[in-house]
Amino acid sequence: MSGEVAVSTSGFEARLASNPLDAALRNEILANPGFGRYFTDHMVHVRWTRAGGWQRGEIRPYGPLLIDPASPVLHYGQEIFEGIKAYRHADGSVWTFRPEKNAARFRASARRLALPELDDETFLGSLKTLVAQDVDWVPTPKNEAEECSLYLRPFMIGNGKSLGVKPAAEVDYYLIASPAAAYFKGGGKPVSIWLSQHYNRAAPGGTGFAKCGGNYAASLLAQAEAESHGCDQVAFLDAAENKWIEELGGMNLFFVYRDGRLVTPALTGTILEGVTRDSILELARDAGLTPEERPISIDEWRDGVANGDIVEVFACGTAAVITQIGQLVTESDRIVTPPIEGEAVSAKLRKRLLDIQYGRSEDTRGWLMQLA
Ligand code: COI
Repeated sequence: MSGEVAVSTSGFEARLASNPLDAALRNEILANPGFGRYFTDHMVHVRWTRAGGWQRGEIRPYGPLLIDPASPVLHYGQEIFEGIKAYRHADGSVWTFRPEKNAARFRASARRLALPELDDETFLGSLKTLVAQDVDWVPTPKNEAEECSLYLRPFMIGNGKSLGVKPAAEVDYYLIASPAAAYFKGGGKPVSIWLSQHYNRAAPGGTGFAKCGGNYAASLLAQAEAESHGCDQVAFLDAAENKWIEELGGMNLFFVYRDGRLVTPALTGTILEGVTRDSILELARDAGLTPEERPISIDEWRDGVANGDIVEVFACGTAAVITQIGQLVTESDRIVTPPIEGEAVSAKLRKRLLDIQYGRSEDTRGWLMQLA
């Protein structure tokens, strides 16, 4: 059921839910949202056709999609997505972090998947429109330790009746939103990572740099293998030599060296250009660290931990923020990062990042954009 059509100020047509979730039930969800389990009352939709280009967008009640059974997304995986968060500040206002980076990456992913590029104005407008409408779904952190936000998931699919292996002539862009707590359930404890020695995530010339569903589908079996070995996430090596560390199933990786270097695998086209990754590289310089983007091998990880050169390893991403890695488990050994004496570099960077995102410290780089 939906109400009257009205045109909203942001240029999206509004067809609002006549039965939004009751406030008491919503607050119950916000008290313990988990990750990706609950969704807000509305979603945004923008349609594209080869003949007519992008049409006017709409915000409408959250609900199932109408997809042609012969659509390219169902058969050939023509799909891309983004992950971005909305943070509530102490004064009640709601902000997002470097959304223009997500907009640009969404366009890059679209090009690789032969989907039409969505202009940044529509992408950013969709975030504003949905968050302004469903603003009561943005959780309020109880203290600085609590990491809660509204996770925004823009995505685009090839739709329409077409079994020929060719780009869709009808495409739909959607934005949905889900209140989120910390991605990992361990309450900030270092996580365990499984090294995938039989499966690769991406290969040169493939889609590794794009945020497309296929990359994540390809990680699921390896992720299941990780879980069967008691690990939280899987790490992938390069496809050519099975030697160079690439990234985790859904996060980038960093290594902290005793001498102050902060090393992360270089972007080679097979690694996702994480917004959190990029932000850490910038914040690292302020923290007196020396960032290095370069190839790092599994042997360097193993030897560096053994001889004390590598003192911390962490994962980062929009969902994971910055999460310490306690050990890497392989088929033949365990590379255990020793406990950190004093304040961990990863903890310092994490606090710096979250303080900016939640408006607790000055946003000197202009990284925040107000949504509501
Ligand atoms: C993100 O960090 O936003 C991701 O996309 C990772 C995962 C939840 C798919």
